[in-house]
This record gives sequence, structure tokens and C-alpha cells, in this order.
Amino acid sequence: MAKAARSDAFAAAGAGDLGYTISVCTDEAAQDRALAADVSAGLGSMPKDIPPKWFYDDEGSRLFGEITRLSEYYLTRREHEILRRVAPEIATLSGAGTLVELGSGFSDKTRLLLDAMATAGTLEAFVPFDVNETALRATAAGAAAAYPGVATHGVVGEFGADLPSVPSEGRRLVALLGGTIGNFSGPERRKFLAEIAGMSSAGETFLLGADLVKQRSRLLAAYDDAAGITAAFNRNVLRVINRRLDADFEPLRFSHVATYDDERQRVEMWLRSEGAQVVHVRRLGLRASFADGEAMRTEISAKFRPAQILEELATAGFAVLAQWLDGAGDFSLTLAQRANGSRP
Ligand code: SAH
Ligand code: TRP
Repeated sequence: MAKAARSDAFAAAGAGDLGYTISVCTDEAAQDRALAADVSAGLGSMPKDIPPKWFYDDEGSRLFGEITRLSEYYLTRREHEILRRVAPEIATLSGAGTLVELGSGFSDKTRLLLDAMATAGTLEAFVPFDVNETALRATAAGAAAAYPGVATHGVVGEFGADLPSVPSEGRRLVALLGGTIGNFSGPERRKFLAEIAGMSSAGETFLLGADLVKQRSRLLAAYDDAAGITAAFNRNVLRVINRRLDADFEPLRFSHVATYDDERQRVEMWLRSEGAQVVHVRRLGLRASFADGEAMRTEISAKFRPAQILEELATAGFAVLAQWLDGAGDFSLTLAQRANGSRP
């Protein structure tokens, strides 16, 4: 389906130009249709399965921010540690003037990259891209205030459909941080990495943050914290479905479960039905039965070996420039460049 992005340039009365633009590729109505399709397919599959992007309404984005500050959730701190050390090197190696951040959320760590590019004297533009409009607008407004003179152009969009709406001006560095790459299955990941390579011109660069395989107990704790924030985040997807599709999930009748699959190297997040229950999704005219103990999968978070990341980037059409780990070897950042000529 062809769709035009709605763009609103902010020229606020009195306050002058706020200095950023937002393009909305996916609005509420489009998201409702996509959620309806995902829920009807997901409740009909075995096991039941809901894609993770639906976690991120305003409450979900806020809860995710809390997760990043939990002692068990080492990912954000480790990635921050690496960025603090190597952001100047990334700025130099990439030579980029535009930073595109996919799944930017509140872009807390991104300042390290923007500051390094500013110091290198190359920073011209910042393009945060996220499915959650509230987080995106907050990030764009914050960046415009912090970096006057830098063109900030936010895109509210969905990874699967809206990458072509990312502006192509300037020499770009595309960043995908936070371990978000792990939330794709193997085949989805190959496709997404190839799409990122495909949207890049020769010489443009890609920065990938990926979580590494480690002791199972630490992985599980990161997705099942003692304070129950991750459990609240996981159940929030049921509230999103209730609100948008007029469903009657009782979130507290589902318990949060995190598992680790050694063979596939991935954490999986589930909601397990406490007791047998029937749920109605009125907007879809659909009823779904849950057996006692039946679990519905809401997310996967794959973990990687450093060499595997290099291989997957090469397969997608990138030449790897550098890879860095934090001091404890928990998390990785890999910088790659769109190879010249055709893809292998
Ligand atoms: N980059 C931040 C946030 C990571 S959480 C960090 O490193 O902490 C993942 C982010 O990706 C969220 O902000 C979420 O809204 C966004 N997101 C998830 N699925 C998406 C999709 N399919 N399309 C666009 N954005 C998505
Ligand atoms: N990209 C994050 C990750 O895989 C998202 C995330 C963190 C998440 N904690 C979660 C998703 C809990 C669902 C449930 O680490």
C-alpha cells in the first residue's frame, strides 16, 4: 500500500522555529490495522505469539526506560561504557555528517555519538526513527535544543515498512543500538540487515550494538528483574491490545516468564496463563482460549558471539571496520561500511 508521510515542520508562533521536523509514516489508524493483523495471526498460531513492537506505547516506552536503569539490566550500561570510550573513533572512521538512529527511543546514549561528531566538526544532521511517536518527539525536541544549527528530522515509522522514508542527505552513519537486533528471528534479521545495507550508499557506515552470549543466570536476571519492572513491561502488551482492539485480557491473570534457549542462543519472554481462560478481542470478533499454564511468546532476544556478528554483517553486504567490547566482555559494538560495488 502506498502511503504518503505526513510532515509537520514546527514553526511555533512566538517562540520561533523549534528547529526540527517530524515525518509520521505510521499513524494510529495504520498501527491499529497492523496490530489487528498481528493479533489475529498470533492468537491463532501455536504457540501463541505477539510481535514485540507492540510493547512500545507511551507506558511501554516509559517502562523500558526504567528497565535500562535496573541493576540486572547490564546491556545499557555496558553499551554506554563502550560508546564513552570509542565514540571519537567512530566519528573519525565513519566520517559521517548525519546520524540516523533506528529504534531511538529516548536516545540517552546517542549524545555520546552526537558530541563526538560535533567535536570532529562533521555533525550536520540527526535522524531519530522510532515507532513510538511520543518518545520520538521528545528525542527530536531534546536534540534540537542541545544541538542548535544541526538539522533534526524525526521519523515515526516501522522498521519493516518505512526505512525508505529515511532522508538520504549527507554522508550517513546508521545506528541500531540497545541490542534491538536480537529482537528479530534469524531470517528476519538477515532481511533487516540487508535492507539497511540496501538503503546505504557506498562508503556510508552502520553501527550495531549487540548483546553477547554469557552465563545463563545473568541473561535470565536481565529479563526477569527482582522489582518486577520487566514483568510489568511484558504485561503491558495486553493493555495495549485491550485499549486498541477492545479486548478483555486480565493482565494479572498472566505471569511473566523468561527462558533461555541454549541452542538458539536466545532469551524468550512469555506470558503464562494462570488458570484456563477465554479472552475476547471484540474489534476482531475473535475469542481465544488459554489452557491453564499455556504460554504466549511476546519477545525473543538473541545473544551473539562476536565472530557471528562479523559474519552476518558481511553476508548483508558490509565490510567490517572495527568491533569493540566493554571491559567485562558483555556487550559489543561493531562498525561496518557499505561495501563498494555489488553485494556478495
Ligand atoms: N535505542 C534505545 C531503545 C531500545 S528499545 C536504547 O538503546 O536503549 C527498542 C526501541 O525500538 C523502542 O524505542 C521501540 O519503540 C523501537 N521499536 C521496536 N520495534 C520497532 C519497529 N518495528 N519499528 C520501529 N521502531 C521499533
Ligand atoms: N532490545 C531490548 C532487549 O532485547 C528490549 C527489551 C529489554 C525487552 N527487556 C525486555 C523486551 C523485556 C521485552 C521484555 O534487551
